[in-house]
Amino acid sequence: MRTGLALSTPWIYRAVRQLLFRMEAERAHRLTLRLLRWASRLPLPAASHHPGLEQDLWGLTIPTPVGLAAGMDKDCEAPKSFVFMGLGFIEVGTITPRPQAGNPTPRLLRHVDRQSLQNWLGFNNLGLDAVRRRLERIHPLSVPIGANLGKNKATPDDGALDDYLTLVEGLEGCCDFFVVNVSSPNTPGLRDLQAPPQLRALLEPLAAASRRPLLVKLSPDLPAGEAPRLADVALESGAAGLVLTNTTTAYELLPGAPERGGLSGRVLAERSFAVLEEVASRIGPETVLVSVGGIDSGQEVYRRLRAGARLTEIYTALVYGGPSLPRRIERELVELMERDGVAHLSDLVGVDR
Ligand code: FNR
Repeated sequence: MRTGLALSTPWIYRAVRQLLFRMEAERAHRLTLRLLRWASRLPLPAASHHPGLEQDLWGLTIPTPVGLAAGMDKDCEAPKSFVFMGLGFIEVGTITPRPQAGNPTPRLLRHVDRQSLQNWLGFNNLGLDAVRRRLERIHPLSVPIGANLGKNKATPDDGALDDYLTLVEGLEGCCDFFVVNVSSPNTPGLRDLQAPPQLRALLEPLAAASRRPLLVKLSPDLPAGEAPRLADVALESGAAGLVLTNTTTAYELLPGAPERGGLSGRVLAERSFAVLEEVASRIGPETVLVSVGGIDSGQEVYRRLRAGARLTEIYTALVYGGPSLPRRIERELVELMERDGVAHLSDLVGVDR
């Protein structure tokens, strides 16, 4: 526990980060997860949260609106450590039916001066059976835990539905919600599932087969007007919400970067915000929108909530800010709510819609 607490101290993480950032990015990630996995075996206390941040969604209690985005803990190695850091829900995955090695390394780059990352990992993960065993051991957790689902690279496009159905059936008993990932740029053909007829043909049987809420994760690179249209299709097909957004392939945002994979972090913030605004302006406030992309402060969470997000997620900012970041974000968010006389999140969500 002392190690966990010590790592949560900002100046200690700054020192640790110096060492980690001297290592190749994916090696540093692996090492960090190993450490967190070790820490999660300790009797870590549950984080406490401001009562004005708690929400009930789909019968789940979500203590704070900032969660862990997919890809950080693909194989469900250390969810308890992320809860200890103060995150309000956890998304593990992307999980595919069969184990998958992903693309050849190197496949993860840091752009430190822009507080951004670039990856073309390609759904490296241990596969359904291994991740299910881990989820079974920890579920239910003190916060909701969701599984982000993807198809195997070797699965032909017309077999995608079977892959997702296998995952829903396999994981339904050991997680709280699903995120259908049709937006990773690193699996050839995956984003084609975002065409309206394909999306409908995928989601209708999945929603019918699932007892858990099903969210759909969209790309930030859709043509103007397409995200709200897909949001309509997703909701008509039985989805419970949308995760906006995955990484971007707009390489012009990072001049000099190789034209591969997806960009995340600060360079993605405005693009991800624009998609949230576009979708929030079209759909009813009862639909859950989860905003993700470049969030790194309480101010930014506040802006996303006001724009219509019920929840937010972080990944890249955790790499740069370390384990104390979720608590700092919560402090800043509560300060803004107090400044504006907002007692509860429900009085905030969507006021700028
Ligand atoms: C990701 N992301 C991601 N998303 C997803 O749905 N499935 C995945 O497996 C992954 N894997 C992944 C790996 C790495 C290294 C990164 C940086 C990102 C995307 C992630 O969940 C999120 O949508 C974006 O990173 C935007 O949020 P941030 O990072 O800007 O907070």
